[in-house]
This record gives sequence, C-alpha cells and structure tokens, in this order.
Amino acid sequence: MLDIAFAKPALPDSGALVLPIHEGAKPAGLWQQADAATGGAIARALAVAEFTGGKGKTCTILAPGAGLTRVLAVGLGKEDETTQTVLENAGGAIAAALGREAVVAVAADALKPGQAAEIALGAVLRSYRFDRYRTKQKPADKPKLTGLTVLTDHPKRAETAFEPLKGVAAGVFLTRDLVSEPPNVLTPAEMADRCTKLTDLGLTVEVLGPAEMAKLGFGALLGVAQGSVNEARMVVMHWNGAKKSTEKPVCFVGKGVTFDTGGISIKPAGGMEDMKWDMAGAGAVVGLMAALAGRKAKVNAIGLVGLVENMPSGSAQRPGDVVVSYSGQTIEVINTDAEGRLVLADVLWYAQEKYDPRFMVDLATLTGAIIVGLGHEYGGLFANNDQLADRLAKAGDAIGEKLWRMPLHDAFDKQIDSAIADMKNIGGRPGGSITAAQFIQRFVNKKPWAHLDIAGMAWSGKDAPTVPKGATGYGVRMLDRLVADHYED
Ligand code: BES
Ligand code: MN
Ligand code: ZN
Repeated sequence: MLDIAFAKPALPDSGALVLPIHEGAKPAGLWQQADAATGGAIARALAVAEFTGGKGKTCTILAPGAGLTRVLAVGLGKEDETTQTVLENAGGAIAAALGREAVVAVAADALKPGQAAEIALGAVLRSYRFDRYRTKQKPADKPKLTGLTVLTDHPKRAETAFEPLKGVAAGVFLTRDLVSEPPNVLTPAEMADRCTKLTDLGLTVEVLGPAEMAKLGFGALLGVAQGSVNEARMVVMHWNGAKKSTEKPVCFVGKGVTFDTGGISIKPAGGMEDMKWDMAGAGAVVGLMAALAGRKAKVNAIGLVGLVENMPSGSAQRPGDVVVSYSGQTIEVINTDAEGRLVLADVLWYAQEKYDPRFMVDLATLTGAIIVGLGHEYGGLFANNDQLADRLAKAGDAIGEKLWRMPLHDAFDKQIDSAIADMKNIGGRPGGSITAAQFIQRFVNKKPWAHLDIAGMAWSGKDAPTVPKGATGYGVRMLDRLVADHYED
C-alpha cells in the first residue's frame, strides 16, 4: 500500500508536485509559490492547456524548473460541489498519472484536513496492483511511486482523519487479493486459512469443515461441494467492537464459490476462467470484517462465508437431485449451475438461527441476468425491509458504489415452486435475478434482510478513477459506510 505522510506546506525543490485546483480558482499558497519559483511556467502551461480546474480534468507539466520533475494540476470542479468522490477521484488521478515518479508532494493547503485525507485514500485505492505471479517484470514496468506526502496546514488532523480510511483501504485490498487469486491456489480450504489470519486484527474466527456441516445438516451447501476434491468450508468471523458486548450483531453473508464450472450443468468454455471470482461476495465479507476491525468500528458484526468449489465429476450432484437444506426445506436441483443460492440457503439459515442479528446482508455473484439488467454500473439490491434498503443505497451513493433496488413479489416466488419438493433452484428465464432472490428469501426467516447481486460489479475490464481494472473490492466500502452511518454506538 502507498505510504501516506502528512506535512506542513513547504515548496519541494525536487520530485513531482500536485496542485489540486477548484474551478476558476486563482493561484494562492503553494500553487502561487511554485508558479513564482518556475518563473510563471505553470500559469503559462495551464493557459495553453485551457485548464481551469474542471472536475476530472488534469494537466501535466514536464520539467517546469525549480528542480521539479513534473507538476500535475488536478481539477476539482466547483468549490461548493467538492464531494468525497470528487476528492477520491482526484487522488486516483494522481496515482494513475505519477506512477513513474518516486517522490510526490500534494499541495492540499487550500483544502480542509479531512479533504486531504480523502485525496490520499483515492490515491491508495487506485495504486492497487496484483503482481504476485509476475516473475519477469522489468523495472520500467513497475511503479516507482511508493508514497505521497500530502501538504496541509493541519497534518495531525489530516492524519487522524486518514487513520480509519487506511483500515478500510486495507480491507478493500484484501478483497481484491482474494478475488484476483487463481482458483488452483484459492481453494475453499486456502480461503478459510486466510480468514483465520484475521485474528491478528482482533477478530475471532471459526472454521467448519464438511463433517461439522454434515452433522448440522447443510445438505444444500454440501450438495454443491460434493463433486469437488477440494473440501467445503464455512467461516464465521466475529468483530466485537460495541461498548455493550451483549449488543445484537449486524450480519454479513457471502457466496464463496472458489470456482464455478456449472457442475454437471456445465458452462461453455469461453470465459469460464472468470468464474474464479465467483467467491467475490465472500471476498467482500472478509474484506469488510478486516475493515471494521482495522478501524476499530464500535459495532458487533459477524461475517459468514460459505466456501465451495462447483465441479462436474462422478460424485457431483445431478440435475433432478433433491437435497434437504439446513432449514429442513427440500430443494429440487434442476440446474447445478444455480449453485450460489444453495450455498447461501444454508449459511443464511444458520446465521439467523444462531445469532439473531439486527439484519443480514448477503453479497453474491449470483446471476448473469443482473448484468443484463444493470450492466457494470449498479449492483442489484433486493430487500424485505425498506429502511435497510434505503440505508444501503445511500451508503453506496456516498462512496461511489451504486445500487439499484429490484422487486420481490409472491408472483415471482411461485416460479420456484417444485412438483416434488418444497422448491426448485431455478425459476426459468423471466426475471432470473428476481427468482434467485426469492429463493434466498425463503431462507431468511423474515429477519430484516438485503441481498446484493454483485455479478456485474466484482470484476472490471477497465480502469476507473479509484478502481484499477481487475478485482474491484465492490461492497467493502459501502457496507463499512452503512455500519459507520447507522449501527455504531
Ligand atoms: N456464478 C454464476 C453467475 C455469474 C454469471 C456471475 C456471470 C458472474 C458472471 C451463477 O452461479 C450462475 O451460474 N448463474 C446462472 C443461473 C441460471 C442457471 C439460473 C446464470 O446466471 O446463468
Ligand atoms: Mn453457477
Ligand atoms: Zn456461481
């Protein structure tokens, strides 16, 4: 992770200098000093580039003099519209543009200390890389940028503001790491092992194996796992940060299919490698728990992940099999590729029964249909509780992870009635994401609950301001914000 330092404003005499500039602002402070030191080179370059500080605009000035390698002007847009997202995106632009610089100072002297911290967060989030498996990278391909010094009138206050953001960024990075790992490395057992490492942050972590889950009666989850030589796991992570240790917990549940071949209802070959990230819901829950612990959130939270591999083999479950879920409800498995809901069914029932949570939010790369509906812009939000739904959507908006609410209705629920069991695991093509959510709702036992279908959001094919292409870590920041805004004491 980028090293972030905060210091009093002083014009650097080497390296790169970043000037965050509001729309139409006049040179002042460090900006004015840098312009004077370079004999007006900055003002001349910005005029030629017609740079006026427009939101999202940048202008790079190479070797302007006064020892500086580069000056990067970053537009913040109108001063009274400077949201957290604007500042984070400016930070992201810095990390994207200055990867080849070793020493970078950000002139945040015209900003509040909290705003300086948000720029730093954006830079950190954008600088994420997953290069564990590259052995032949040339120095020219690797970033030189290892840290930023943010210049502010109140470095102590900026540092205090940055401390919790750093904890959240570490959670996002953990999620991105888990989602990026190849499926031969990140088996259910390996993912569970990585969860147990969170005890270092003060979490309590329990791991259940197949024997324990069989004893409980997790027939739905274990039916998915039975075709794989890689054993299933369920991990329960506890963060007890509330003042009252007896306070009821908030609860997060993740789909963790470490690889989804579809099973006997096998998927086509093209693009199947993407199904390594079919554990992104679980990955987000793990990253969230790390974030809550990392910033010492004053809440009792429980994260549960169901970890399986969905493989076709002689021992795999068949279309037509009937399994008995932990809830006692029976499920006719029509399509073995609709496996995520089977995993969530048992974990959700366990969560509500064992922990009586204030609410449950599940995250899952559940359906291709949600990508048809919402593309890669919005996660799908389903909920049996309007307050929870509103809070989630607002939390997502605040940090730039968008959600769009989808309907639940008895009419859709009927689509998953089975002729020979309590339900079947698919409801046909119409409303595919909704019938999947209806299925899950049958396992929440009327607890306040929301389901986030993140199939379109877990992985990105293109760079975004604070999210480099690849594993996004979608969900971690939104749920951290949900907790921060409403559930801490
Ligand atoms: N993991 C997939 C959903 C998915 C598809 C995630 C594409 C990300 C990108 C899920 O297990 C699945 O296979 N769903 C099926 C359900 C169908 C069989 C009812 C789907 O969406 O095709
Ligand atoms: Mn599937
Ligand atoms: Zn899946």
